[in-house]
Amino acid sequence: KQSVKLIAGNWKMNGSAASLAEIEAMKADAAMSPWQAEVVVFPPAPLIDRVSRAVGTAPIGVGAQDCRAEASGAFTGCVSAEILHDAGARWVILGHSERRHGLRETDAVVAAKVEGALRAGLHPIVCVGETLEQRDAGQAEAVVAAQVTASLPEALSGRDFTLAYEPVWAIGSGRTPTTEEIARMHAVIADAVAARLGEAAVARILYGGSVNPTNAPDILATPGVDGALVGGASLKAEDFLAIIRAV
Ligand code: G3H
Repeated sequence: KQSVKLIAGNWKMNGSAASLAEIEAMKADAAMSPWQAEVVVFPPAPLIDRVSRAVGTAPIGVGAQDCRAEASGAFTGCVSAEILHDAGARWVILGHSERRHGLRETDAVVAAKVEGALRAGLHPIVCVGETLEQRDAGQAEAVVAAQVTASLPEALSGRDFTLAYEPVWAIGSGRTPTTEEIARMHAVIADAVAARLGEAAVARILYGGSVNPTNAPDILATPGVDGALVGGASLKAEDFLAIIRAV
């Protein structure tokens, strides 16, 4: 397992050319003293090229929030992993709950997108997580383990990839599981990865859902947590930097 923690900032459908100022603030901070974490930002697809140029040689990775599984073709409005790579992306978030639930993306679709990402040379971050209904019914662990099994294609065997545990009810809600609950679920996910891809599988497991500068130190110190996938708090450089510095 990699020991360097990953802090990922998912801008979701936010940002504009003005967001480049946030990148400049991050670059200035990184130049002051080195970050202990690996850092990646995920702007909306049309900003990837500009953000990548703004990053330059600073230690900030750039990724996309989704991709189409196919490399090219008649898929109006869609963007392939190859096109994203060409624009400067090196990472891609796949299976975010806002796509699984809002856009009915299935585990099979997510697995096909992961294969597309690997084909194009993008590092995938595969998201899993239970709804409040599933948690209340005592199904959280089974649901998440099943998502891991069905969303990870065989092609990931022996590859370095990332998972993100994002309980749906914790996203944008200000609520988080306890650190004990997070540790337990990360262990369940690690077991599911090993069962699917073998003990040698190298996967970092991030926690996501209402991570902020206040709760980040405890969450990032939780056993089995290899970093954070940050939504709302990644939109303000000051907050995002505080989370990066919490590692
Ligand atoms: O991808 C990020 C997650 O959905 C978390 O979002 O930090 O706004 O709760 P949030």
